[in-house]
Amino acid sequence: MKRRTFIQNASLTGIGVVAGAAALSCKDEKDSTTQASSRSNSAAMIATIPVVIATWNVPTSTAKAWEVLQEGKSALEAIEQGCMVEEANAEGQSVGIGGLPDRDGKVTLDACIMNKHGDYGAVVCMQNIVHPISVARKVMEDTPHVIFAGKGAEEYAVSIGFKRENLLTESSKKAWEKWRKTSLYKPIINIENHDTIGMLAIDKNGDISGGCTTSGLAYKMAGRVGDSAIIGSGLFIDNEIGGATATGLGEEVLKTVGSFLIVELMRQGKSPQEACEEAIGRIIKKTPVFKDFQVGYIAVNKAGETGAYCIHEGFTMMQYQNNENENIPVDFYNKA
Ligand code: GLY
Repeated sequence: MKRRTFIQNASLTGIGVVAGAAALSCKDEKDSTTQASSRSNSAAMIATIPVVIATWNVPTSTAKAWEVLQEGKSALEAIEQGCMVEEANAEGQSVGIGGLPDRDGKVTLDACIMNKHGDYGAVVCMQNIVHPISVARKVMEDTPHVIFAGKGAEEYAVSIGFKRENLLTESSKKAWEKWRKTSLYKPIINIENHDTIGMLAIDKNGDISGGCTTSGLAYKMAGRVGDSAIIGSGLFIDNEIGGATATGLGEEVLKTVGSFLIVELMRQGKSPQEACEEAIGRIIKKTPVFKDFQVGYIAVNKAGETGAYCIHEGFTMMQYQNNENENIPVDFYNKA
């Protein structure tokens, strides 16, 4: 997947914006400020399982996850294999190989995974390993710990059979070299914008798992870790309730523990759509400069109803449900 421009000025003229991407609950029908495309809306009205949703336009990732679910395998297996597709895509500049590097030219990856038991595994700031989602799963399943960082994560991965590979592709290196010529120390808005892959799945047994994987903020300071691998922020699953995952400026997601918040709001009776909107609302309320950055959430509840919301136009959600793999523009806050 190509890096997308998240900025509020991005023009998506002509694309029907789905109210909350998939406001599956009919009671959530939106007013005339948002228009559901008829195809998306018709699919959106039928909440069924299995279901896979993911941040951004990653049809091959959701298709892989769906294929795994159709084989009768677990949501956890679907999440790992679905995320691996994008991690292996060297064209994508925000996840796995080809990710844009930090200011020093190093590609550092964050990822986490959660299963139906609420178990969690993560790696942060890991270099030279293409599939951080798989290492995160190993951390969860095979170690007494939950997060491995930096060199320790890499050494652990190698010790269990992962190969070291150069993750900095020629095009990402060129982009970094260009950025270095003009860069300011201060973060630059368009550089803050990137596209993590967060994925949520429910299998035929109704069990929920999720994963989140990213190379993080382009040209970040060395050692910076975002929300994606942090439980409750980039991802949260409660098999009794549902799951949520995030994309966008990790610092803002971390400060509001967004994914946990969404799951707790669903526990209190909110739809996935309402919960995502409230989580974005918390950021808007406490961060006056929200016009300068993007955050997007997607969520699913136990019934297979989905929702999504973001700050600025341009975010989309993949949804594979009822045998249809759709990329759905997500409704957004900043309509000014
Ligand atoms: N949301 C990914 C990051 O901020 O690193």
